[in-house]
Amino acid sequence: MKYHHSFPELGIEGRVTAAGIARKLDYINLPEDLTGKTVLDIGAWDGYYSFECEKRGATVTALEKERRTGTLTELKKKFNSKIEILYMDAYDIPTLNRQWDLVLCMGVIYHVEDPFKMINIVHDASKESCIIESALRNVPGEPVMFFYKLDNKDYPISWLPNSSAVIAMMEFTGYDVTHYIDRPEEKTRGVFWGQKSQDQ
Ligand SMILES: C[S@@+](CC[C@H](N)C(=O)[O-])C[C@H]1O[C@@H](n2cnc3c(N)ncnc32)[C@H](O)[C@@H]1O
Repeated sequence: MKYHHSFPELGIEGRVTAAGIARKLDYINLPEDLTGKTVLDIGAWDGYYSFECEKRGATVTALEKERRTGTLTELKKKFNSKIEILYMDAYDIPTLNRQWDLVLCMGVIYHVEDPFKMINIVHDASKESCIIESALRNVPGEPVMFFYKLDNKDYPISWLPNSSAVIAMMEFTGYDVTHYIDRPEEKTRGVFWGQKSQDQ
């Protein structure tokens, strides 16, 4: 399938259904009003959440490692959008020497070789806050992270943390984790909101 996200207003059906996106939008609790805010969307794929932040008033940078079928660029034109697109590896964000008010890192940390390094990069790139969404292992208690070698050429490995591990890593970087939820309908994903304290 060419598209990852669905864009009903353009008649595009992607791998993730419109209903699935609506549920995720609800549980990530994206601020309704992002007027005047800058947002970095790491791992934007074809950009649903980048375009959504722009609709809510933000100046948006969509960062994606893979060009795939060029859907991000194509949809930017279709939406007559002004988002900035950076095709680059998120590990290279520090070379940009930039910060954004809000950093979204959704569906990414479990795909990368070093989730802790990625969370540090998210922290350093954010001026105010972040929303980190991830697949999880639903294991209560101490922070743990499980490593999987997968038979998948796009995603040859996966790290699955439990909620405590995501919180511990975020707190170690310097975020206050203001709240988090495990997805109500299936406890295999979660979303975590990090806030930087004023003196950072
Ligand atoms: C599961 S998708 C999530 C897409 C979207 N953020 C969402 O929540 O629906 C993960 C995306 O992150 C991208 N990605 C993975 N590792 C990355 C990296 N190191 N740098 C930039 N993008 C990365 C993948 O190419 C893919 O588009």
